[in-house]
Amino acid sequence: CKKKEVSITFVKANGERIKANGKIGDSILDIVVNNEIDLDGYGACEGTLTCSTCHLIFPKDVYDNLPKKPAEEEMDMLDLAHELTDTSRLGCQIIMTAELDGIEVRVPSTINDARS
Ligand code: FES
Repeated sequence: CKKKEVSITFVKANGERIKANGKIGDSILDIVVNNEIDLDGYGACEGTLTCSTCHLIFPKDVYDNLPKKPAEEEMDMLDLAHELTDTSRLGCQIIMTAELDGIEVRVPSTINDARS
């Protein structure tokens, strides 16, 4: 059976909006990679929670309803991200659900690769 498609819009710091499609069960990082979205340096550690380059800023209502609260490892990585906000998460840790279809997320203007 075919998995349902979901969409997500990335809003870059310069205002550019990039809409992309993925499937339920994809992480946001998967969607960026599969659509070859041009976000400089995004997802450098390929989802292994060692880089923080996949930092995204969520609208408050979306953030509050994300299926999973951040694990301690994610919190530690987020601490190293630039432009950290109260509604920041790491995109590689967010798995798309039907409820998240159509969300908009902000991409910070600078990314910090915690490995460097
Ligand atoms: Fe490196 Fe998410 S891709 S922490």
